[in-house]
Amino acid sequence: MNINNIEQSPFIKIEGLHYYYEAEGGEMIEALAGIDLEIRQGEYVAIIGPNGSGKTTLLKHLNALLIPSAGSVTVSGLSTADEANFPEIRRQCGMIFQNPDNQLVATTVEEDIAFGLENMALPSPEIRERVAEAMHILGLTGLEQHPPHLLSGGEKQRVAIAGVLAMRPRCLLMDEPTAMLDPAGQQEVLAAVHKLNRERNITVVHVTHFPEEAALAGRIVVMDRGAIVGDAPPKQLLSRLSMLHRLGLQGTMAAELAALLRQDGLALDGEIIHMRELSDALCALAQKT
Ligand SMILES: Nc1ncnc2c1ncn2[C@@H]1O[C@H](COP(=O)(O)OP(=O)(O)O)[C@@H](O)[C@H]1O
Ligand SMILES: [Mg+2]
Repeated sequence: MNINNIEQSPFIKIEGLHYYYEAEGGEMIEALAGIDLEIRQGEYVAIIGPNGSGKTTLLKHLNALLIPSAGSVTVSGLSTADEANFPEIRRQCGMIFQNPDNQLVATTVEEDIAFGLENMALPSPEIRERVAEAMHILGLTGLEQHPPHLLSGGEKQRVAIAGVLAMRPRCLLMDEPTAMLDPAGQQEVLAAVHKLNRERNITVVHVTHFPEEAALAGRIVVMDRGAIVGDAPPKQLLSRLSMLHRLGLQGTMAAELAALLRQDGLALDGEIIHMRELSDALCALAQKT
């Protein structure tokens, strides 16, 4: 295989993925009902969908926390069905969960970020260097000796991300990472993740129920009842409000307000999903009249 083929092959490739949970009493619950999805290195993909649609289950397949009941998942060409691949898949794809408290394991920030590296048995100077670098990138320098449980929610999530980053991953998997944070913490975490995606070409797969977060992704995948029912760039996808509403989801505030204003007779131009676009469209209309 030449280098061009390697670059063109998707970083994550999911084919015919089914997953069943066994409920108490032995009943099988089909959480994923045939998923086909490819994600290229460097993409920022948001996954949205109603509760119980299979978002978390799908995400857990991307670092081999769950193994397909049928079909296949490969990460960087490595099949998640082969246990020998688990360490490398998990190093390449780090997971950030909703509750930062469940992810912090050590008594100082520095030790916490070093945790995964210690498990890789790297030499101490390299561990120190990687921890310092990850802390710098996430704006945590100065908090080395801080007890993690005294940090703000946004800082805790950034510590968790720094712990993943120190492993030199190619991909960040995030399951509603800002759901438990205040608005300032949400902004901190989002800004940090977008920076890693932009500047380090780290692939991001970000499950969220916030339309404004999904609007900032490069691509949005919509799930419903274990299947993918939408896959498009934010502008296209988030303007399909009736589809979102049918699923019990919402568009961004700007898109919802633009739809109301149009219903009330305002001829707003263009597809509107961001506040800036709504403001521009309203100004353009005001100048015409
Ligand atoms: N550990 C589990 N045991 C049994 N069923 C589960 C388990 N985890 C999730 N499910 C079921 O699988 C489906 C998908 O769940 P999940 O992936 O958590 O959805 P989402 O993250 O979109 O809310 C739901 O019907 C849920 O009830
Ligand atoms: Mg979930």
